[in-house]
Amino acid sequence: MPFYQRLGDVPRKRHVQFRENGTLLTEEVMGLEGFTGNESILYHLHSPCRVMKLDGFKEIEREEWVPDQHAHRHFKTFDVKPDGDEITGRRVLMWNNDVEISLCRPDQKMDYFFRNGEGDEVIFVHEGTGTLETTFGDVPYKEGDYIVVPRGTTYRFDPVGAQRYLVFETPGLIEIPRRYRNQYGQLVEGAPYYNRDIHPPAELRTVREQGEFEVKVRVRGGYQTYVVDYHPFDVIGWDGYLYPWTFSVHDFEPITGRIHQPPPSHQTFAGQNFVICSFCPRKLDFDPLAVPIPYHHSNLQSEEMIYYVSGNFGSRKGIEVGSVTLHPSGLPHGPHPGLAEKSIGVTETHELAVMCDTFRPLKLSQLAQELDDGHYAYSWYEEPGAGGAQTPDEDPAGLTSHF
Ligand SMILES: [Fe+2]
Repeated sequence: MPFYQRLGDVPRKRHVQFRENGTLLTEEVMGLEGFTGNESILYHLHSPCRVMKLDGFKEIEREEWVPDQHAHRHFKTFDVKPDGDEITGRRVLMWNNDVEISLCRPDQKMDYFFRNGEGDEVIFVHEGTGTLETTFGDVPYKEGDYIVVPRGTTYRFDPVGAQRYLVFETPGLIEIPRRYRNQYGQLVEGAPYYNRDIHPPAELRTVREQGEFEVKVRVRGGYQTYVVDYHPFDVIGWDGYLYPWTFSVHDFEPITGRIHQPPPSHQTFAGQNFVICSFCPRKLDFDPLAVPIPYHHSNLQSEEMIYYVSGNFGSRKGIEVGSVTLHPSGLPHGPHPGLAEKSIGVTETHELAVMCDTFRPLKLSQLAQELDDGHYAYSWYEEPGAGGAQTPDEDPAGLTSHF
């Protein structure tokens, strides 16, 4: 999606003969919006339709938790048990028809290939490095990267070290916000990142192995497994606008102002009926009368989910690395008592957090019930007579500044 890329060998023109040792290669157009959207053209050694065996179909089952009360919630996810691989280990925390948000701490290696046939993915790498091996080539990743995987990409993880991800899966498209792009697609001055910050596949390795290879494809609300008799990374070359890429949260250039800037200034990706934002270390509002911590606000038409990545959240009662807060629609939210006063004169924040605002209500899973701290909804409440600054001692630079 970001810009034109080419790896490996492609013929001089599209849709003309392209041979290797006399054998005609198979051309595949992978495209969006019925041949009018972004596309890539890949040249395979084998027909991508070639299937040796149709294996099982496994429906995705979600266990919903419907809480008795509608309230702000805090889920502590850091100690969630490692389980499964990079696909089977995804444990959904909340979801609606537009996006599924999962935690993933894999402790097994994928012995198959995966393709999301019905949605785009953004995998935020909280911990770990490695390579996402794909039909488009190798995509190296590291801690702090967002890995953006368009639907239809066959891939497999090759992780190095312990891994921890926050995963977004959506039936819509993941896009760079329209206002960041000019009419030609280049990222404009003033956008918080530039084309140079986007990392497409680094290297294409054509694998010529024969054998039995499992490809698990997410389709129709489940996983269909196919067995093929050739290694799926059989691409000789490709070009186009559709491919997996990474963007590091550490390359997001925060936009600050004399007075408080609203959350859209932190927007990183646009989804269908949701946004993903990055809250990065930055200087805070510099007007002498500025209140650097946010004003209270009501998300009248959206739900706000925040995942705390790193920084000092000591000032936010009970919030720690891996915490997820959910401020659902219909309720106002804002800083804890006393923090607005304490924030005055604070010049910077060291927090790092990923936020997802959805425009439609989110459902919660039973995992969310397990991780719910049970008392966050009361954290703004002070016993009468307790005074106005009932907050723990804190490093002012750690004030959670985006609520
Ligand atoms: Fe908010």
